[in-house]
Amino acid sequence: MRFDIQDSKRLAERLRWDDLDLGGFEDKPLDQDALRCLRYMHDVEFHTACYLRDLLVSPAHADPDLTSFFAIWAFEELWHGEAIAAVLGAHGESSGGSRVHMMRQNLGAADHIRPLVMLGGSWLAGENLLALQMAWGAINEMTTQAGYALLGSKARHPLLSALLKRIMVQEGRHMDFYASQAGMRLVASASARRLARSALRWLWSPVGSKVMPSGETEFIATYLFNDVQGIKAIRRIDRRIDRLPGLGGMNLTRRWFERFP
Ligand SMILES: [Fe+2]
Ligand SMILES: [Fe+2]
Repeated sequence: MRFDIQDSKRLAERLRWDDLDLGGFEDKPLDQDALRCLRYMHDVEFHTACYLRDLLVSPAHADPDLTSFFAIWAFEELWHGEAIAAVLGAHGESSGGSRVHMMRQNLGAADHIRPLVMLGGSWLAGENLLALQMAWGAINEMTTQAGYALLGSKARHPLLSALLKRIMVQEGRHMDFYASQAGMRLVASASARRLARSALRWLWSPVGSKVMPSGETEFIATYLFNDVQGIKAIRRIDRRIDRLPGLGGMNLTRRWFERFP
C-alpha cells in the first residue's frame, strides 16, 4: 500500500492526552520495570531532533517530500516524548527538558562525529543512501511500535495502554511512509538494494541503542522481546522487512535480539 506525503500531511497531528487523568497513576502506579522502559522511550523519542540533524546533512535535505515528512515526524515524536514525560512526572520522576539536557551532555564524541559520518556516506553513496535511510527508518518504526505494544501488555495498566495505543497509531503512519519510500527507492535501483542490504546487515541496531547506555538497551531487549509474545513480534517485523525489495530473508531483528538469550 502506498502511503505518500499527502497522507502524512492530512493525518499529521499533535498527540493529545488531556482527556486521560494521569492522576490515576497515583492510586495505581506503574511497576519499576515499566518505568525503566518508559525512561528509555522518553529519551529516545526526544532524541528524534538529533536524528533529524544527521538526516539533513545527507541528500535527503534536497527532497521536498522527505523534508515535509521529517517536519511532521519530528513534531509528532516530540509529543510522544512529552506524553511519556507526563507519565514519568506523574510518578515523581525527572522528565522533559532537564532529563533530556543531561542525556545530551553524556553522549560523548561518537555523537559529535555522527553528522560527519552521514556526510561521508552521502559522498560515497549519493542518492542510494536515501533508500537505506528509508528502510532503516521503517524498521525503527516497526520495532518502536512493537515495543509499545509489548510494554502495554506487560504493564497491564489501562491508563498507560490507552496512551500507548494513541502513540502506536502515529508510529504506524511513520512506518507506512518510510516503508513506502523505501519500497519505491529499492525497487528502482539494484545498487541501492545492495547498499541497503549490506549496511543493514552490518550496521543496524534498534533505535536508541547507539545513544542509550548498553545496560538499558539490554534491559529493553530482554524485558520486552525475550518471551513468546516478544519473539512473535520479532518474527512479524522480519516478515515485514522481507516485503521490502532486496531485503528478503535477512532475519535482521531476530539475529540482533538473539544476542540476549
Ligand atoms: Fe514516537
Ligand atoms: Fe515514529
